[in-house]
Amino acid sequence: MTFVQFSEDLHLGHALIDTQHASLFEAVNQLHDLMLAGTSRQQLAPMLAFLRSYTVEHFATEEAFMAETGYPGMALHKAQHDDLVRQVQELEEKHNAGSLTISITVMIFLRDWLAQHISVDDRKLAQHLQVH
Ligand SMILES: [Fe+2]
Ligand SMILES: [Fe+2]
Repeated sequence: MTFVQFSEDLHLGHALIDTQHASLFEAVNQLHDLMLAGTSRQQLAPMLAFLRSYTVEHFATEEAFMAETGYPGMALHKAQHDDLVRQVQELEEKHNAGSLTISITVMIFLRDWLAQHISVDDRKLAQHLQVH
């Protein structure tokens, strides 16, 4: 079941960034499917670990582009990345410790964060990268 659709309006016209965003959405959809299927905490852990590590990798890719091109919005954009990574790490730790269950509320948080960040902040970055 598709929980988050990587719709046309979220394509930013930067091949690598778009590909990574598509993969991130796929990971969120997979986590959602596992959640719906009532997958055990133990079996869910690798998917959560993948989502966290792929998020870190994707953010590092964007930050490398920002650094290479002297993107003026880098500090603010990176602060948002750091904030999400911190929150996902916290989710993962609590989930693995048994004090948090991956619920629809968690999934909606991830979906909305990504959609908002891509359509506003990553869009600005992609526009900058088109001319730098
Ligand atoms: Fe970003
Ligand atoms: Fe991004």
